[in-house]
Amino acid sequence: MNYIETEKIREDFPILNKMVNGNPLIYLDNAATSQRPRQVIEGIKYFYENLNANPIRSIHYLAEQATLEYAKAREKIANFIGALPEEIVFVRNATEAINLVSFVLPFKEGEHVSTSYLEHHSNLLPWLRLREKGVVVDIAGIDENYDIDMDYYKHLPTNTKLVALTHVSNVTGTTNDVKEVTRLAHEQGALVLIDAAQSIPHMPFDVKDINADFVAFSGHKMLGPFGIGVLYINKNIEENLKPFLTGGEMIKDVNINKIVYEDAPNLFEAGTQNIEGAYGLGLAVDYLNRIGMQNIQKYEEELTKYLYEKAEELRNVEVYSGKSKKFSGVFSFNVKGFHSHDTAYFLDRKGIAVRSGFHCAQPLVEDRLKLDGAVRASIYFYNTKEEIDKFMEELNNIAVKYGR
Ligand code: ALA
Repeated sequence: MNYIETEKIREDFPILNKMVNGNPLIYLDNAATSQRPRQVIEGIKYFYENLNANPIRSIHYLAEQATLEYAKAREKIANFIGALPEEIVFVRNATEAINLVSFVLPFKEGEHVSTSYLEHHSNLLPWLRLREKGVVVDIAGIDENYDIDMDYYKHLPTNTKLVALTHVSNVTGTTNDVKEVTRLAHEQGALVLIDAAQSIPHMPFDVKDINADFVAFSGHKMLGPFGIGVLYINKNIEENLKPFLTGGEMIKDVNINKIVYEDAPNLFEAGTQNIEGAYGLGLAVDYLNRIGMQNIQKYEEELTKYLYEKAEELRNVEVYSGKSKKFSGVFSFNVKGFHSHDTAYFLDRKGIAVRSGFHCAQPLVEDRLKLDGAVRASIYFYNTKEEIDKFMEELNNIAVKYGR
């Protein structure tokens, strides 16, 4: 496990030294949000102390600095996923990105949109709402290992306008072959949106290789600040996208009788944006690049393998994740006969942070897994084998005492 120097890296994350309930914090809730390195935390302070002004609008020195930094951040994020800067729209988070597409893509009554059982609510509810416009929503199924039904994508319902699919499930860890799904969907004339909120923080991601039309992700799951996310829009899509919000800095020309809109990305960035967030996300990307996404992926793969091997020794624990052909660093489980919130509570008493409940994926957890909740531990590259050992030890104690 020498792809990255975890000990050195951990020094950059002040919060990882915290004591929680009398124990050293073991943070295993990375799928909910990552922790931030001081390079990002201090960078945001630097922004406010040195660069703060409203970009694009004014022409004074500071405004020009802020404009430059905002453009630089866009470029860094574009490079990070192999896109062009003009294909990067800043939004609040992946949820807003997906909602934006559901508003700006002109759906007609009778057209189909496809999503799946693996989705987080953010890639489900925006599509279900389109039923109000007479759009037909199709749900791709999953098998007993939580692998997506690839046959479904080979024969999409006629009139499918958009296929929306998560890259990595936040519950089962299932990692979908989004490149193949995109290829199949395009062959049948459908556009493709990938929810990459749980993948881009953990692996190299080349948007041109995958060739999707839209990609959504959040900054806060990849070391960046809260409140900043990205919608990638392929500049070659032919659909006539309408603006989502209208207002400042998204028009070329306007009078009372005529509006000429700006092109993307400005078209989708009406009003003053989260500049400090974009700046902070740029710094987060610098940090990830310094470590190397390939190294992060390899390290996490090994740590996940270690976790799953250790989990085999547990009694009275039912595991739901990790069954798919390809899966990522989430571990979803229950102590048999014990509610997920109770397990999470007892782990928290030992300083171990996990998430419990439906994970904003209620149709998956309740309808398909037939559960009233699950506990989820999710790793990032600053987690260690020692932390996994401690987590397993405490989980085993709970399982022996309360499981059946
Ligand atoms: N989507 C985040 C999670 O899975 C919040 O926890």
